[in-house]
Amino acid sequence: MASPQQITNAFQQAMNLSGSPHEVSMSPTQSYMSQYSSLKPAKALKPFSTGDIKILLLENVNTTAINIFKTQGYQVEFYKSSLPEDELIEKIKDVHAIGIRSKTKLSEKILRHAKNLVVVGCFCIGTNQVDLDFAAKSGIAVFNSPFSNSRSVAELVIAEIITLARQLGDRSIEMHTGTWNKVSSKCWEIRGKTLGIVGYGHIGSQLSVLAEAMGMNVIYHDILSIMALGNSKQVTTLDDLLSQADFVSLHVPATSETKNLLSAPQFAAMKDGAYVINASRGTVVDIGALVQAMKAGKIAGAALDVYPNEPAKNGEDLFNDSLNSWASELCSLRNVILSPHIGGSTEEAQSAIGIEVATALTKYINEGNSQGAVNFPEVALRPLDLDQQNTVRVLYVHHNVPGVLKTVNNILSNHNIEKQFTDSQGDIAYLMADIADVDLSDIKTLYEQLEQTPYKIGTRLLY
Ligand SMILES: NC(=O)c1ccc[n+]([C@@H]2O[C@H](COP(=O)([O-])OP(=O)(O)OC[C@H]3O[C@@H](n4cnc5c(N)ncnc54)[C@H](O)[C@@H]3O)[C@@H](O)[C@H]2O)c1
Repeated sequence: MASPQQITNAFQQAMNLSGSPHEVSMSPTQSYMSQYSSLKPAKALKPFSTGDIKILLLENVNTTAINIFKTQGYQVEFYKSSLPEDELIEKIKDVHAIGIRSKTKLSEKILRHAKNLVVVGCFCIGTNQVDLDFAAKSGIAVFNSPFSNSRSVAELVIAEIITLARQLGDRSIEMHTGTWNKVSSKCWEIRGKTLGIVGYGHIGSQLSVLAEAMGMNVIYHDILSIMALGNSKQVTTLDDLLSQADFVSLHVPATSETKNLLSAPQFAAMKDGAYVINASRGTVVDIGALVQAMKAGKIAGAALDVYPNEPAKNGEDLFNDSLNSWASELCSLRNVILSPHIGGSTEEAQSAIGIEVATALTKYINEGNSQGAVNFPEVALRPLDLDQQNTVRVLYVHHNVPGVLKTVNNILSNHNIEKQFTDSQGDIAYLMADIADVDLSDIKTLYEQLEQTPYKIGTRLLY
């Protein structure tokens, strides 16, 4: 049997970390277990001493995330803002995880300095601030939180539907400039009106439930056949939806198919006096054509939260014709609500994003679970049982080329491979395997053999 010092050395070398392995890590296996509907308690894996795990958090990441990491015993370094490039390069050198929002650019140049980094958490929706390909090629998984703000967007759209129907934006602007204009002409209740939702995903389906609760009839169009919530009804074509809806709200992703999904022919196909709402992506509506349809009186109002070009920072006089050629014409129209991409911007969404991304990072660090990674094959194994004390979990990121499994399984073949799962994404593949009856003294050998394979990108062993 290996001595405690030998075990320490094996872990330190296997993980390329300093510190003691005797502190048992708190793995979030309880919540993970529920996915597998197992009633048995699970064994908490020990990636390494959790006190050795260093996490750099930038850009005022929500406190919900800091709490999760601290509960794990990780070392957390927290900054309210992003860091200048040279400082970031210094800091990133020895951290195992980094949490950022949209302002920190993790380019290849910066990531090349990250010798211990295994995971990046984008505490936001987008991930284009990270060089995802280079990260994957370096064995660094990247996680984000695409759906934590769905409810916030759906609620904003409900507010906009009523605001448009009552011309509330115009009345408010008038009052701010001293004008009293009490009118009811062309102001409507939303009860009994038809809402057409294009894209019945996370946001579209939430909106559907809220709108029905307000007494609206809901129809939706999606490229997928999706089960209707409540009394809503799926319609086959976009034109079906446009011809019936009093309000059209867009909730599709930005793809080549959704570029200018609503343009002049679609506005012509809509009911006279219909309203348009876009809180999806700026490319989905041809705003020049919308301006013309509104000027012609075909469309009675529009609420836009997203634009083809958006300013990179907050400030005055940034939303202008040099940013988008139609900006001043759009701003001059009546019953148009313009908001600066705030659909998902609420305290609740920030808190939910903190929990979701911090949990994903913790699961990846403690268990190797890459489900939800944006640049990486998504692989998960069910937790180990408490009685599997001598089982080692192998995490092996490698180039996606023929012959890898043969080589790896040859290395593992002296032990019983209890379960194994591998998947690939482009040039990168990720293998997870639970190996039974591993003597602690074998860990170092296993690690070194895997590290010496020509296909290896990164190896971690959890025990
Ligand atoms: N304004 C904001 O602050 C904000 C916040 C969050 C999300 N968003 C955006 O909202 C949009 C929807 O987000 P989500 O989380 O609901 O996405 P989602 O992936 O859950 O749902 C999108 C739905 O659109 C459908 N779809 C795709 N192409 C389509 C097409 N051509 N026609 C009809 N349906 C199509 C998909 O099948 C899917 O059901 C995305 O563009 C997202 O980026 C905006």
